[in-house]
Amino acid sequence: MEELKKKKELVYKGGGEERIKAQHDKGKLTARERLSLLFDGNTFQEFMGFATTKATEFGLDKNKVYGDGVVTGWGKVEGRTVFAYAQDFISLGGTLGEVHANKIARVYELALKTGAPVVGINDSGGARIQEGAVALEGYGAVFKMNVMASGVIPQITIMAGPAAGGAVYSPALTDFIIMIKGDAYYMFVTGPEITKVALGEEVSYQDLGGAIVHSTKSGVIHFMAENEQDAINITKKLLSYLPSNNMEEPPYIDTGDAADRDVSGANDIIPTDPVKPYSMRELIYRTVDNGEFMEVHKYWANNMIIGFARIGGNVVGIVANNPEEFGGAIDVDAADKAARFIRFCDAFNIPLISLVDTPGYVPGTEQEYKGIIRHGAKMLYAFAEATVPKITVILRKSYGGAHIAMSIKSLGADLVYAWPNAEIAVTGPEGAVRILYKRDLQKMSNPEDYIKQKIEEYRRLFANPYWAAEKGLIDDVIEPKDTRRIIYSALEMLKNKREYRYPKKHGNIPL
Ligand code: HXC
Repeated sequence: MEELKKKKELVYKGGGEERIKAQHDKGKLTARERLSLLFDGNTFQEFMGFATTKATEFGLDKNKVYGDGVVTGWGKVEGRTVFAYAQDFISLGGTLGEVHANKIARVYELALKTGAPVVGINDSGGARIQEGAVALEGYGAVFKMNVMASGVIPQITIMAGPAAGGAVYSPALTDFIIMIKGDAYYMFVTGPEITKVALGEEVSYQDLGGAIVHSTKSGVIHFMAENEQDAINITKKLLSYLPSNNMEEPPYIDTGDAADRDVSGANDIIPTDPVKPYSMRELIYRTVDNGEFMEVHKYWANNMIIGFARIGGNVVGIVANNPEEFGGAIDVDAADKAARFIRFCDAFNIPLISLVDTPGYVPGTEQEYKGIIRHGAKMLYAFAEATVPKITVILRKSYGGAHIAMSIKSLGADLVYAWPNAEIAVTGPEGAVRILYKRDLQKMSNPEDYIKQKIEEYRRLFANPYWAAEKGLIDDVIEPKDTRRIIYSALEMLKNKREYRYPKKHGNIPL
């Protein structure tokens, strides 16, 4: 017993007091401190804590540390089983060698067998230099497990330290990355030193790979945390919306918010001027249970709003255009953002709600050169492929390809509703008239009145939802205030929805 106690103490101490102090001095917590914040009470159960590196090169035989730089195990998060690994910067710099990688792979094996989410806390110097190619092989094993687990169990990564080189790719292969703000936290494929040598470009660690850059510019991370505790809080909140695996339904909670209540102020939220913006976020807050909307990618591709909420206690994934940014038009980033989210929701049985107000895809050379064709196609693919309940509400504009990309009946939407102001057409009135009457207009010296008159005609026909409703493309035109009640009713009806796809190895989504 004495020996066990002593050895356990060594396991807990990792690289020693000095390194723990250095970690705290950087404002960072140790792996064990982080895990104790994540798991309920003392439910965390460690395994392979005694494992050490098998390598002997470059003095590693004299520098064996129990745990090999990563703490692994499982426990309860708000009563549900969750697996976790936390790289331990105080032990061998949290670097990844063969045994370290085996431990992470074992976390995945057990999590996959038992159908429980994995939370990875990354804080590492990367591949352990002394273990050379074996360390790289270890990364390969971790990446493979990330991919095997994709779509089977939710994977969440907290970026709680440095991540350079290929080490960034395990986080990138998981479903959600939460990154902490501050100098001690960064991720990039190539650091500032090599960037300077290779390109002569001078850039700081934060400007190259800090949380602000990755949440606003690159879109690499999904959530930015103010500090370590905040990162754990975000993780717990996110888990509260997710099923433990792809065979489960997302967790229902009695939120106490009446499913049949009106959406307050919704009847007046759309301005009478059709080009004036309004707050889609505000509408979402008013529609969902208790105004709680967990927005994903909040600071990136602001023209598309995505996130989790509950309606009558049922988890939903919301995909909404944002008329306050590019008038709600879809660009390459917005399409990527929505498509990945749609696929996540579909993989984990989360019904999708589309809230539509989009004038189309963003035009111009910049977007075309970036491949708006390729990126826009992802949304079409993702919605068409998804078999979860899909409910669309067209609030105002819904034009052209973007109308289809936001999920319509022929693409597989189960129900499509429209508000009375909805405008559904191939293109906007002015563009349409100039194309349809091009020959006539060329012959006129002063075509303005004619254009006005034709625009009026076009608007009368298409700037309302009834023409489309008469064609059966819209299931009902609804009062905005009834949106919540109607979505809830549709969700209830669609609860046992079954839809099958042709057997195949996998599809080939345009990337
Ligand atoms: C072995 C390493 C290490 C590494 C850090 N350490 N990185 N040991 N291999 N890659 C050790 C240090 O020697 C030190 O040991 C301890 O970890 C803490 O590191 P410090 O340098 O003291 O900490 P700090 O000043 O905070 O700097 C952190 C750091 C720096 C920025 C991460 O250590 C660093 O630049 N490391 C090298 C990063 C790197 O090039 N990694 C490979 C990336 S490529 P002692 O005993 O003194 O405490 C990669 C490929 C993956 O990962 C490929 C996948 C396909």
